[in-house]
Amino acid sequence: MTATNIIDGKAFAEGLRKDIAGHVARLKAEHRLVPGLSVVLVGDDPASHVYVRNKGKATLEAGMKSEEFRLPASATQAEVLARVEALNNDPTVHGILVQLPLPKQVDSAAIINAIDPDKDVDGFHVVNVGRLNTGQPSMVPCTPLGCLLMLKHHLGNLAGKRAVVVGRSNIVGKPMAALLLGESCTVTIAHSRTADLPGEVRRADIVIAAVGKAEMVRGDWIKPGATVIDVGINRIERDGKAKLVGDVAFDEAVKVAGLITPVPGGVGPMTIACLLRNTVTAACRIKGIPDPQ
Ligand code: GUN
Repeated sequence: MTATNIIDGKAFAEGLRKDIAGHVARLKAEHRLVPGLSVVLVGDDPASHVYVRNKGKATLEAGMKSEEFRLPASATQAEVLARVEALNNDPTVHGILVQLPLPKQVDSAAIINAIDPDKDVDGFHVVNVGRLNTGQPSMVPCTPLGCLLMLKHHLGNLAGKRAVVVGRSNIVGKPMAALLLGESCTVTIAHSRTADLPGEVRRADIVIAAVGKAEMVRGDWIKPGATVIDVGINRIERDGKAKLVGDVAFDEAVKVAGLITPVPGGVGPMTIACLLRNTVTAACRIKGIPDPQ
């Protein structure tokens, strides 16, 4: 990839993680504070095990405390709740992440809403959703936060820009729209039932694709010069080979976009970096120390 309009999310995330490690070192030296992240993993989902391992590794690399709690796939709601409550009450734990999906006998919403909102580094608790949507300091979901950091780094002030978010999930689409509105963008949330999806996307200066459908956003939907952030990660088979593609038809869109994120190597690496960032934020807020970020 040599085109200059491709955003290198991997390099950006590496830089962010280096900055975070510096903040952690200073918090240790100046405040005797070691930010701690605890991850709860329930069941045997192989993808979840890989994600959790990567999160733990990145947490340790940043100089933070990392803990992982595993519960069997047969765990009851009460057992998961008891683990969350123990972590809420542990003063060395500043961030709590319960890896999703949870087994079907466990009510995910009830578990997420049992996490202390100030330790909810995923930003999924209803209190954090409410804080984000009313402009109050909140924990912000990691993937939309990563998208926003990349957008601000490359575009500067976003005020007045037309942004379309394709996808309305609680994890990406809705918080992304709230963040862009907070930056004074004119925001449209489009989705699978939108009447003229190509038309909506064509009006946008900023396109966030988060629908979970491989290569759905085509190159001729993109306004020339627009910035395209592709949140999708879809496994497809092409020419007999397994391939990872986004929600945007990259080869088409890269010819039209002013800036575009690739898949892999775009938004993906930013999500873990933002989890570390949120853990530092949570630790500083809990301790009443100014957040260096
Ligand atoms: N499973 C897949 N992505 C995520 C995430 O960002 N947070 C949690 N808690 N679980 C996930």
